[in-house]
Amino acid sequence: MKLKKLLISGLIFLSIGASAQVKQLTIKPHQPLAQISPTMWGVFFEDINMGADGGIYAELVKNRSFEFFKPLMGWKLHQEPFSEGSVLIQNRGEAHTNNPRYARVTVDKRKQGQLTLTNEGFRGMGIKKDLRYDFSMLYKMISGKVELLVELLDQKGGVIGSTKLSPVAGQQQWTKLEGAFKSAAREEKGALRLGFEGEGIIDIDMVSLFPEDTWKKRPGGMRADMVQMLADMKPGFVRFPGGCIVEGFDLAQRYQWKKTVGPVEERQLIINRWNYEFPHRSTPDYFQTFGLGFFEYFQLCDDIGAEPLPILNCGMACQFNSGEVVPLDQLQPYIDDALDLIEFANGNASTKWGKLRAEMGHPQPFHLKMLGVGNENWGPQYLERFKIFQKALKEKHPEIKLIASSGTDPQGAKFDFLNKGLRAAHVDFIDEHYYRPPQFFFEQVKRYDNYPRNGSKVFAGEYASHTQGTSGATRNNWLAALSEAAFLTGLERNADVVQMASYAPLFAHYDGWQWAPDLIWVDNLNVVGSPSYYVQKLYATNRGTETVPALLNGAVLAGQDSLYATAAIDAASGEIILKIVNASPEQQKMELEIEGIRKWEPVAAHTILTSENLTTVNSLKDPAAVQPKTASIRLAGKKPTLLLKGYSFNVYRIKYR
Ligand code: AHR
Repeated sequence: MKLKKLLISGLIFLSIGASAQVKQLTIKPHQPLAQISPTMWGVFFEDINMGADGGIYAELVKNRSFEFFKPLMGWKLHQEPFSEGSVLIQNRGEAHTNNPRYARVTVDKRKQGQLTLTNEGFRGMGIKKDLRYDFSMLYKMISGKVELLVELLDQKGGVIGSTKLSPVAGQQQWTKLEGAFKSAAREEKGALRLGFEGEGIIDIDMVSLFPEDTWKKRPGGMRADMVQMLADMKPGFVRFPGGCIVEGFDLAQRYQWKKTVGPVEERQLIINRWNYEFPHRSTPDYFQTFGLGFFEYFQLCDDIGAEPLPILNCGMACQFNSGEVVPLDQLQPYIDDALDLIEFANGNASTKWGKLRAEMGHPQPFHLKMLGVGNENWGPQYLERFKIFQKALKEKHPEIKLIASSGTDPQGAKFDFLNKGLRAAHVDFIDEHYYRPPQFFFEQVKRYDNYPRNGSKVFAGEYASHTQGTSGATRNNWLAALSEAAFLTGLERNADVVQMASYAPLFAHYDGWQWAPDLIWVDNLNVVGSPSYYVQKLYATNRGTETVPALLNGAVLAGQDSLYATAAIDAASGEIILKIVNASPEQQKMELEIEGIRKWEPVAAHTILTSENLTTVNSLKDPAAVQPKTASIRLAGKKPTLLLKGYSFNVYRIKYR
């Protein structure tokens, strides 16, 4: 059948001709081709787009420890009449390098009336009706007696929850003050007001407000609705903490895991590199508090049954930015960070870092098995550094699989150089990245068919289909997701080569994003899975254990008449899992031949993800515009016919044992 190109709404896609000839797809469940790794479909987490601070980390107070470059950013002082110096930022400097600043509040009834400090939250605070909110703050009473009125405000300034707290007079040590209250109303963009009453001087730091309903109700934890989206995907792994965040603009701003563990008030805040990376999406209030640090990350993996896959700095800063490198003879501290992270994850409680893990609440090891060295690094500078890491890490931990970067592009001289060099170095996994238009994903479906079957495996560590002429959440349209669904048939079909894959980035806040498209969009109270999210979820929750042939006229189905297919079996449940993408606008019919099997359950489960319009997106108003729907279908006769709607991704589960 002849393919013709159509141009609709500026989007190029493939269409079949008018005739709807029935094709036959032959599945061979008794001829397994490759094991599908349990880690095959995972997620990529980076604090970009307010993914962590202002996102999954449920802290509602922005700039809680006054460490932003502008120490009162996010805070508003109200005082009638104004008295200079009533709120003064003090700096302990050397005495407390990780969290040097705090606010000294002087309350003097004779000079001033009411004195309040109001925090605006991250694009407001999302508040739920009747939910408990937990307030806490560190304080020292320098003199006198000060009372604290803690109030939750709606957008109009009305009080929707409050509590009064009494710091202990004469308390000269930093002490935690805590209080809880319920909210009487739902508010999308609330605020927190602290009213200081009485007379005296009080020092305050780490002003914090968390909702009660965090994931697993952990105090100081994560937003449960966002974690649930991940748990629902049943990801095989979680890549963390990125992404370019690993590299940093310069080496001083690189991600250092040791600064993200231990008590939160001792975790050193740094500027988020996405704060200023894109001038057109500048986010001056974006910092990393590391309230979600490496302990919480490992715990998350544990909770949702995913393998941890940390990526560490390899001694190189982002090559798009400063491109700083550590001299080869000074790499040891970076290697030590990697070795110590393995100890933090896996060491017993008698080791230095294992002990810290146990003290933080997890005496059992986290069973780390993989580690990435470098994010999007390239060139001979990367190769020579990676090899030094490889030698040192393999000597001490041969059991840990290492992941190496192949740079920013999936083709070209830089890619070829690293791909060759890394394979020669017998690297366990090579991390490939592709942010490309939909056509790339349709056309590259056979990308891995001719890859070497032995040696280094592939980790498709960051990818997303980038539609053109679209921006923000509208980039996550059905065309993008459909092209990813088609491309992933090629990954699953080559599961002996590609053993891990993750879409990137994961989260984006509608009011605070820098990079789009993204898998899951959120505001302060809602989460919206993009069509791409549902593609990922369908792959991950219908993984299967082994791939089997799915052939059209003896060839893999990889774009003929805009159809793409992959088949697997699930050895445990005795099912064939067939995934078919119809990227043409017309419905197509497909006869199914299941070779070597005489009987199968006549009723199969059919899940379909579809939209008639390629520009359809899921949004806050219509979060379910593209969502999977599952129904039972009858498989009639020896060669049952499957009806594949135009623009659809279909998953069939057929019980044959
Ligand atoms: O996913 C967003 C960014 O894309 C990542 O931080 C980086 O690795 C890539 O360039």
